Amino acid sequence: MRNLSASVYNAPARVFHWLTAALLLLQYLLAWTMPDVHRDTKPIGLIAWHLGVGMVIILLVVLRLLWRSTHDVPPEPGTVPPVLRIVARFTHWLLYILLLAVPLMGWANASSRGWPVTLFAFMPMPPLSPAGSSIGHALGDWHRNIAWVLLALVALHVGAALFHRFVLRDGTLERMFPARRNPASSKR
Ligand code: HEM
Ligand code: HEM
Repeated sequence: MRNLSASVYNAPARVFHWLTAALLLLQYLLAWTMPDVHRDTKPIGLIAWHLGVGMVIILLVVLRLLWRSTHDVPPEPGTVPPVLRIVARFTHWLLYILLLAVPLMGWANASSRGWPVTLFAFMPMPPLSPAGSSIGHALGDWHRNIAWVLLALVALHVGAALFHRFVLRDGTLERMFPARRNPASSKR
């Protein structure tokens, strides 16, 4: 490990990160195993789970961004080349944007189908588009397509994390783990 002075993300930021990753994985598994959605499909079973988990993801990302904007983000290891830093920051912001845009489009599509959308299965959420609206209908296609873009970006992100770990060996991956695993890290 070249840069042993890299600091790690604080505990809540790490919990937000790994919880989002786990829920996103679950969400894709639900999306790919739930029945195909047609005009007369009812939002029950795995489809209801897909809607429910997606709404929790929105809440989690909003809370995460609030936390991020009010707390320090640890500086990147000094050995990361400036161009890589810019690419990483751009990718992270695009991830945040898509982590909100994809579920919001799904929510609008659910509303256009006249489906009730709830948070934690009991808090009713307002419809994002009127029942039967053509924009809500179109956003269903966007939702499915942009979900692929999000998945590709996550694959790039994971690939970059592994590249930092096994090729650059610059302590970047360790930033998302408790400082204990990286004894020389300073925690902020
Ligand atoms: C980050 C969160 C989400 C991801 C990654 C995601 C992903 C996906 C994917 C991949 C599909 C396509 C499934 C297939 O090919 O059969 C899909 C369909 C769908 N999702 Fe999501 N989803 C998310 C959140 C949501 C939310 C929050 C809602 C509604 C509250 C929602 C409602 C729907 C609906 C209604 C469909 C069917 C769309 C159609 O075929 O017209 N999704 N989702
Ligand atoms: C699966 C969905 C994932 C999503 C949506 C995601 C998203 C993000 C985002 C938005 C950040 C920026 C944090 C910030 O500064 O605000 C980040 C950082 C990070 N992620 Fe992920 N991540 C995912 C999975 C993973 C996985 C599987 C790994 C490890 C193999 C990983 C490793 C990291 C590392 C090391 C950082 C810190 C990078 C740095 O400080 O430059 N992530 N992630």
